[in-house]
Amino acid sequence: MNNHKGVKVLLIDDDPGILKVMTLALEDAGHEVISAGDGISGVDLCASASPDIVITDIRMPGINGMEVLKRVKQMDPDKEVIVATAATDMNYAVEALRLDASDFILKPISEQALSIAIKRARDRFATRRELKDYTALIEERWMDTTEELARTFQTQKLLIESSIDGIIACDKSGRIIIFNKSMGKMLGYARKEMLGQKMIDRVFCPGEAEKFKDALASGKHGGKGRLFLHECFFESRDETRIPVQLSAAEMVREDEQVGLVCFVRDEREIRKLTQEVANQARMLHQDKMISLGKLAASVVHEINNPLAGILNYARLMSKILSRGAPGAESTEKFSGYLALMQSELERCAKIVANLLAFSRKSKLEFGPVDLNELLRICINLSGHKLELQNIRVDTRLAPDLPMIQGDFSQLQQCMINLIFNAVDAIPEGGTLLFTSNFEAARNLIRITVKDSGCGISRQDLPYIFEPFFTTKTEGKGVGLGLSTTYGIIDRHKGTIHVNSEPGRGAEFVIDLPVSPANPADLSRTS
Ligand SMILES: Nc1ncnc2c1ncn2[C@@H]1O[C@H](COP(=O)(O)OP(=O)(O)OP(=O)(O)O)[C@@H](O)[C@H]1O
Ligand SMILES: [Mg+2]
Repeated sequence: MNNHKGVKVLLIDDDPGILKVMTLALEDAGHEVISAGDGISGVDLCASASPDIVITDIRMPGINGMEVLKRVKQMDPDKEVIVATAATDMNYAVEALRLDASDFILKPISEQALSIAIKRARDRFATRRELKDYTALIEERWMDTTEELARTFQTQKLLIESSIDGIIACDKSGRIIIFNKSMGKMLGYARKEMLGQKMIDRVFCPGEAEKFKDALASGKHGGKGRLFLHECFFESRDETRIPVQLSAAEMVREDEQVGLVCFVRDEREIRKLTQEVANQARMLHQDKMISLGKLAASVVHEINNPLAGILNYARLMSKILSRGAPGAESTEKFSGYLALMQSELERCAKIVANLLAFSRKSKLEFGPVDLNELLRICINLSGHKLELQNIRVDTRLAPDLPMIQGDFSQLQQCMINLIFNAVDAIPEGGTLLFTSNFEAARNLIRITVKDSGCGISRQDLPYIFEPFFTTKTEGKGVGLGLSTTYGIIDRHKGTIHVNSEPGRGAEFVIDLPVSPANPADLSRTS
């Protein structure tokens, strides 16, 4: 219904005189009036113009007022319809009210009766609208609340179910009301079996429940009504004693204790994890020792040559000295020999220092690393081995490489592993190419190590990074090199992958992120 005082009224009457008089009266009262001279066009107009109130005569040619009432109500049960009837047709009026007409007015229609009927229809319409709006509002709120409640319930359920820790709770009477998936897995019971059971009787090993109750009541470990990291034993379905670490809290609602909830950790899982970490560390160390052994063997040759030279010069100088005090010529020779000995000794010292640096650290120690320098040192350290096997080394190192944050010693271990693998793959001599590049767009450094060796077969390719996978004969390979390398690169938040085809060599590609957190370390080096 329109907001202003007037409403839109549809008049249906076959008497044009009555239509005219009523139209004038209603318009005077501030209403908008549309009219129709028969029932059919009245119903049509009602559909198209959507009046607030319909006033229809009863006796009309074609369809009568009763039929108009029926059709309008069918179209819109809330539409207000007033029937105008002669006093002699009161039975129609009664029938019309039964068919949900708002009112009836007697003919001849007085202005006052018309105005009262319109007012009543209006009030009815307004009340009905208000009631409808109110009902809609309540329904909407109810839906919102129900949805919200369902969502909260689902979230809480998910939270409990997805917890890795076991969660078990009981009500005031000690009966289980929550028994989550992890709890079920730990004890081997389905939730259905446990709900409603006495918690104290069902989960603890004999004698453990009493200790638990005492500890909870003492308030010493976690405060009143709480228990923190209590160690005890649960009993599983197959009567296994399971060592658990348990934290408990009384559930309180409006100052009343309504139950108890326990968060339970299977200590066997914790021990397993600790064991795994220890194993990993041991494996890392094992691989390092293997690489170190191989490296030391190759370095011995590297050091032997300069040592032999130094020894020769020393012997020569002793021989000259044994002949008496050296003359000016010999003194000049001596200083030449000493310079040579010094440079050879420096070379040895450098090799030993590198070897020591490699062997010393086992924990990750991050610092700025110049990957070009690292590559050069590794090539240097394995120089003898490579030379011996007739392997030519090529390098294409980007001159403007930023530093990365990393552990020098461990990254060195990776390179040495790759170099030794390449050496094993090129028994007949060949080439080994090292490249380094900075990829600014992805803020990472890419290192590649490419050999011209035997390559890797398609079957082996998926397994080469797995620990203890080796194709080498016993004593030659353990199968730890690449898995360790993978682990180290991973801990540097980098990646390693290989491109290889049998007979066409192998290329290992390492991407290492340049840490943006340390802008000072990004200074360019050559
Ligand atoms: N450059 C390469 N060319 C061909 N095959 C390779 C290459 N690098 C690794 N592989 C293959 O991957 C396997 C696993 O390498 P990984 O370094 O992990 O172990 P390993 O060299 O066999 O032994 P370890 O390094 O422990 O002495 C090798 O046995 C070899 O088959
Ligand atoms: Mg290897």
